[in-house]
Amino acid sequence: MQRKVIKAVFPVAGLGTRFLPATKSVPKEIMTLVDRPLIQYAIDEARAAGIKEFIFVTSRGKSALEDYFDTAPELEASLRKKGKEDLLEVLKQTNMESGAIAYIRQHRALGLGHAVWCARRLIANEPFAVILPDDVIAGEKGCLQQMVEAYEETGGCMVAAMEVPHDKAKAYGILDVEKDMGQQVKVKGMVEKPEPGTEPSNLAVIGRYILTPQIMRNLNRMRSGTGGEIQLTDAIADEIAAGRDVYGYRFRGQRFDCGSKAGFLQATVAFGLARDDLRDEFSDYLSELVAMRNAAQ
Ligand code: UTP
Repeated sequence: MQRKVIKAVFPVAGLGTRFLPATKSVPKEIMTLVDRPLIQYAIDEARAAGIKEFIFVTSRGKSALEDYFDTAPELEASLRKKGKEDLLEVLKQTNMESGAIAYIRQHRALGLGHAVWCARRLIANEPFAVILPDDVIAGEKGCLQQMVEAYEETGGCMVAAMEVPHDKAKAYGILDVEKDMGQQVKVKGMVEKPEPGTEPSNLAVIGRYILTPQIMRNLNRMRSGTGGEIQLTDAIADEIAAGRDVYGYRFRGQRFDCGSKAGFLQATVAFGLARDDLRDEFSDYLSELVAMRNAAQ
């Protein structure tokens, strides 16, 4: 029986340069898909997976993120006065139980591995999840919940895995598969951003992880890897080298890379079309747009 995963780390200290100039003053995680910021999707997924403690690794200029999870007394009073119960209900999703949320500063953006390491004292000696909010995953059951259920059987470390075309492998951490068990694979190696043609498989690591506390000890070495950054993938690969189990989990669901402009736009369209209150008007608009473009060609 594995120890329950109740802590999650949300590394949100990156510079978000692909969304400049917006990210000069707006944290990437506050950008909205329809009417909810990316971070709300991540929190909902974590809650559904049974997470009770939420640890944000932040940096300068991210105060909007802290405010988002705070109460908003004036706004709430005004909505109450106007009888807007539905909107008060919507606001409730952003409330966090006191003490359930913690913020840690990563003083310099030294890489994802370093950001996770910054949370080491709060993680102490427990397994924990890592969620990258710019990977948004739509599906019937949340990706992290699927992984937690699988982890309860396997233990070890587990990363979310997704098949990518070979020519896209260079943008990801790629798994070297020892044994393919269908939904899960046992991993014998991991390569961060492989040179084209050298990728050991087409299974890419996506921004959801369940990790053992040993990962924090591996990160203590502060080894810089690909791109001069301290890579989380290297700390997980150390586990394999030490003979401990690492699994890739093929999740069910559609992943959007909201850290890139194209991915963010695709997610906006998909989430807009999935909304009952917007679907008809939005799909009519998209059909007209496509027809106009085709006519102009
Ligand atoms: P990205 O690789 O997307 O980097 O980080 P970024 O800085 O957010 O964005 P670009 O590439 O400049 O546009 C993946 C995740 O890791 C976090 C980011 O906040 C994001 O959630 N991260 C990355 C940190 O918290 N600290 C770091 O030093 C690096």
